[in-house]
Amino acid sequence: MTHTKIRVSGVSVSYQDRDGQQHVPLQLVNLSVRKGELICLLGPSGCGKTTLLNLMAGFQTPSSGSIEIDGVAVRKPNPRHVTLFQEYGLFPWRTVLDNVLFGLEAQKIARDEALRRAHAILATVGLTDSARRFPRQLSGGMKQRVALARALVVEPDVLFMDEPFAALDTFTRHRLQDEIRTIRQRLGTTVVFVTHDFDEAAYLADRVAVMSINPGRIAEMVEFAPDTTFDRRSRIFEERRIHVFTSVANTFGHAEPTVCKTSSPPQNASPKPALEASFTAS
Ligand SMILES: Nc1ncnc2c1ncn2[C@@H]1O[C@H](COP(=O)(O)OP(=O)(O)OP(=O)(O)O)[C@@H](O)[C@H]1O
Ligand SMILES: [Mg+2]
Repeated sequence: MTHTKIRVSGVSVSYQDRDGQQHVPLQLVNLSVRKGELICLLGPSGCGKTTLLNLMAGFQTPSSGSIEIDGVAVRKPNPRHVTLFQEYGLFPWRTVLDNVLFGLEAQKIARDEALRRAHAILATVGLTDSARRFPRQLSGGMKQRVALARALVVEPDVLFMDEPFAALDTFTRHRLQDEIRTIRQRLGTTVVFVTHDFDEAAYLADRVAVMSINPGRIAEMVEFAPDTTFDRRSRIFEERRIHVFTSVANTFGHAEPTVCKTSSPPQNASPKPALEASFTAS
């Protein structure tokens, strides 16, 4: 039987604004995240992805419903559950190496062991040569790799990631996505990954929770056959993309889900409306 790592049961979040008007970003959300899986929360801006992530990570409490990790109610952030935000959150006064060492110092890991682990993870994210540099001396992609290294070095039990690669160029994003896949296979970390990028979800996820908006809900759940061998040029990836596009189309009622084909379109074919490859920010 599959072990449930995170259980979200009947969770709603509502706010009252100054005019007394009620807003319901999340309504009656149910979600089970299995131990060791990577689940993507996919949906347009404002559908409640960050809210749901913050609830699971313990930064926010629901208006109603409950959230458990390993059968224990989530009431506050847990050091074994690391959150990676979009805006890096690096300490500007610390070098790359010292940023990565931070979590290990907090855990009082012996200095030799901490250095060994920090250098190993910096090698994994390709930053060995930048260990002595400061964040201001790095590009955006390098900063995000430091943030990823800092999150992974403590070998978290659960990793919450909120659009961590959205601001990066495609080369860097693909590289970091590959690193996430490799590291997960090695460590078996449970990952909840927020994205509005269909391809990112199709490439990384074991399952994709497609969220609807106003109120935010999980409208569809896409489950892929377990496979870690495919790459971005493979038929499996294309099939995964079609699967995601179809679920998004079902959720939002777009006319026809389309996906890139390598064959040429027939002559004189009228162009079909294509879904955007990602939800654009409103
Ligand atoms: N403190 C708050 N008070 C009132 N409304 C809030 C508050 N926090 C979030 N919301 C509302 O909840 C909804 C969901 O916000 P959330 O940040 O979770 O969306 P999101 O899916 O992460 O969007 P994005 O893709 O733009 O990051 C939005 O309509 C937002 O305005
Ligand atoms: Mg968000």
